[in-house]
Amino acid sequence: MKLFLDTAIFEEIDEAVKWGVIDGVTTNPTLIAKAGQDHELQVKRICGIIGNVSAEVVSEKSDDMIVEGRRLAAWHKNVIVKVPLTPDGLAAGKVLAAEGTRVNVTLCFSVNQALLAAAIGAYIISPFAGRLDDINEDGMRVVADIVNAYRQQSIKTKVLAASIRNPMHVTQAALAGADIATMPFPVLKMLFNHPHTDDGQKKFLEDYRKTQEAKPAPSAAGKAVLPSH
Ligand code: E4P
Repeated sequence: MKLFLDTAIFEEIDEAVKWGVIDGVTTNPTLIAKAGQDHELQVKRICGIIGNVSAEVVSEKSDDMIVEGRRLAAWHKNVIVKVPLTPDGLAAGKVLAAEGTRVNVTLCFSVNQALLAAAIGAYIISPFAGRLDDINEDGMRVVADIVNAYRQQSIKTKVLAASIRNPMHVTQAALAGADIATMPFPVLKMLFNHPHTDDGQKKFLEDYRKTQEAKPAPSAAGKAVLPSH
């Protein structure tokens, strides 16, 4: 499962890229607003350091979405155009996908919606796990069901577990067979955490320092001088 960052904040993406653990970024109008930057400039900047960058259309009618989607795709070869799972969104997505643009269908909450996205040739389907959990439904169950339905139907559309809220969601998405999980930067940082890793590393470094301190210091003539005690 590939790990994506769900943010439009350049500094977060830059840090995660340096760690070498992420393969892409998902943005949406809310995340762009949070980053407080011009949409085009920010997406181009992000595309300069990482591939697979989802940028979402904000038009409402399919014809306008097609025009907008073409404009987003022209920004950079790394752009994946995100359309909503609405009749207009899918109609636009179908045209864009037929033109060779990679399309991410967003705001998916059911297996049936995921089948509709596959039918238009979507490159990615994004089921929102966290938002389902918020209304007392099992978001990760829906992700797992979409993965199973796609496998049984030999559908190639990639399943991207979205709206991830905690590290447990990431584990569950991987076990469900999702192709990608996109997560906020704080959740990505939490994936590193384990008390035994921190304690173990602290102890290794302490022991290394002890051996260094116990080593005989070299004399001025280059010979070892034994410690006086
Ligand atoms: C995915 O592409 C969306 O940007 C995102 O995961 C939505 O998450 P939220 O429910 O935390 O807003």
